[in-house]
Formats: sequence, C-alpha cells, structure tokens
Amino acid sequence: MNQVTFAKIQEQFAQDVYKGLTDSPKHLASKYIYDEKGDLLFEEIMNLQEYYLTSCELDILKIHKAQITDLFLQNTRSLNLVELGAGNGKKTRIILEELQHRDANFHYVPIDISDNALRRLQNSLSEEFPGLKVKPKQGTYFNKLKTITSSTSTKNVILFLGSNIGNLPHKKAIEFLAQLAREMHQNDMIFLGCDQKKNPQTILDAYNDPYGKTEAFNKNLLQRINKELHANFNLDNFLHWEAYNPETGTAKSFLVSKIAQRVRIESLDLEISFAPWETIHTEISQKYDDALIAELAKSAGLRIENQFSDRKEYFKNYVLMKTTPAK
Ligand code: AVJ
Repeated sequence: MNQVTFAKIQEQFAQDVYKGLTDSPKHLASKYIYDEKGDLLFEEIMNLQEYYLTSCELDILKIHKAQITDLFLQNTRSLNLVELGAGNGKKTRIILEELQHRDANFHYVPIDISDNALRRLQNSLSEEFPGLKVKPKQGTYFNKLKTITSSTSTKNVILFLGSNIGNLPHKKAIEFLAQLAREMHQNDMIFLGCDQKKNPQTILDAYNDPYGKTEAFNKNLLQRINKELHANFNLDNFLHWEAYNPETGTAKSFLVSKIAQRVRIESLDLEISFAPWETIHTEISQKYDDALIAELAKSAGLRIENQFSDRKEYFKNYVLMKTTPAK
C-alpha cells in the first residue's frame, strides 16, 4: 500500500469509528478486523474444525474441479481468472492446478487492497506453479476490475470465495453483484462461494469456538482502535456474543460491555460510555439457500448458470452469468 492510500484508509477508519461508536445502537464495520493480527487470527479460524466453511469449499473444489474448469473454459480459448481478495490462495490452487493440467491459456489476476498479501501470494505461487502467469492488481475491487474488463475481450471468471459476500446485508450484496455485472461481458462468469442455511447449532459453533480464536478476532477491532487511534479499551471488559436467526439466515457478532465503563479515544478526542450489557454490533455472516441466491442474482441482473456443493450441502459455489444482452 502506498502512503497516500494508507493515509486515506486511516482517515476513513477514524471517521467510521467515530460514527459507529456515537451511534445508537453502537456498531463497527467488520472489514476493519483485518490488519496483520486480524489476518493471522482468521487464518487460524480457517484451520478450526468448528469453522467448517473453509474445508467444505475446499471439498467442493476438489470433488468438482473437472466440471468447474469445464465451465470456466466453455466458449473460449483463453481466460482471465480474476480473484477478489487474494487470501492465502489455498483454495484457488486447486483451480490453478486443474487449469494448468489442461494446458489452458490463462492469467491469474488476484485483486487485493494489501500489497503485502499480493506479494506473499505471488512468491508462494511462483515456486509451486512455474510458468503460471500471475498479474496481481493492488487496489479496490471495482477500480481494478474495470481496468481488466475494459482492456480485454478475453473471457473473465471472477472468483469471490469463502462466503465473503455474507458480510453484506442483502441490499449491499445486490449492489455489489450488480456492479460486477456492469463490468462483465456476456460470456463472463462469477464463481461465488456461499455458506448455506443448516442446523443453527452448527452455525453458532462455527462463530463461537471454544479456543477463543473468534473472540480474539472480534476483539481485534478494539485492539486496533487502541493501537491506531490511541484508545484505552480494556478487552477483558467485553465479551464476544454470536446470535443466529434461522428465519432470516443472518448470523450476527457482537461485543458486549460487561460493566458500566468509559473509554477514551485520544485521536478522536472522544469519550465513549457504555452501560452494563450495552452492545457493539461488529459483523454479519449471512447464510443462504438456492431461492435466496436466485433472488439476489436476479435483482443484480444475473442468473444461476450452475452450482456445486459438498457432500453435506453445508456450502455451495454458484456460477452466475448476466441475464441482460450485451450493450
Ligand atoms: C471471511 C467474512 C467469510 O463471516 O464467516 C470468521 C469472517 N467471522 N469468523 C465469516 C469470520 C468470524 C468470515 N468471512
């Protein structure tokens, strides 16, 4: 990340924290969990038994890789495999391997806001996949996507894995998908990972692990405010709380103040008071079913072309294409 980008993000962070903690009820955006420490904690969560999402999606890719890459290579001789959010590439490797195995003519284009994450990914891939054409793009999803889709007539397949879309309430999710659709050519595809509705207990357990990883992940928001905005949150005075509504499929994470307390945020020149058991809403992790995805897709000008699931049907990957004819 360059200095200007970093400064802009910092400013946005300060503004959002101010707004969220002076609002009623209080809230903070989950995207701010992911600093270096947050990235690490999320890696640890992905390795937990309880957090079934990662292993289920990995299973889907392993089981269906032939059919999935068939679809990706349908009606084309070359491909841009664009990934929104680089991550550690563990799941993407399955696809890359299969495409190489088929001698497909393709570029892998990971987009991420973090230069650091992109560099790490590229280094590890170049060792494992000699000859792989990687074109990392540092920046925000839509700015970068625009430069890719407008500069080429090559078919684009946009990967958005891990049920990351679940962090968006439906209205935002539709806007997001519609924005993708606007950048897509007729033959392009979205490959979207979506955690499914299931036994509510299984979902609660995934967001409430007994080792305290999810708690630390959630509390990293407060840690980050302490560090970057010079605040004095005492993390022990808050508890991590997860609620799942099986009717709507929405899992919500909270931080709950155990006591009456005041917190000083130096950089904002702000003092925040908490009543006992007052909440900060920090994250939503939406769970889906086919009808819900069909509805979101339709509202965004997309349709479900195909879908793949693991044996337990805990998780699904949908292939979405545009419904409207090309301009
Ligand atoms: C990375 C947004 C998909 O919501 O399941 C993991 C983040 N939060 N444990 C999710 C998360 C708590 C995760 N996503």
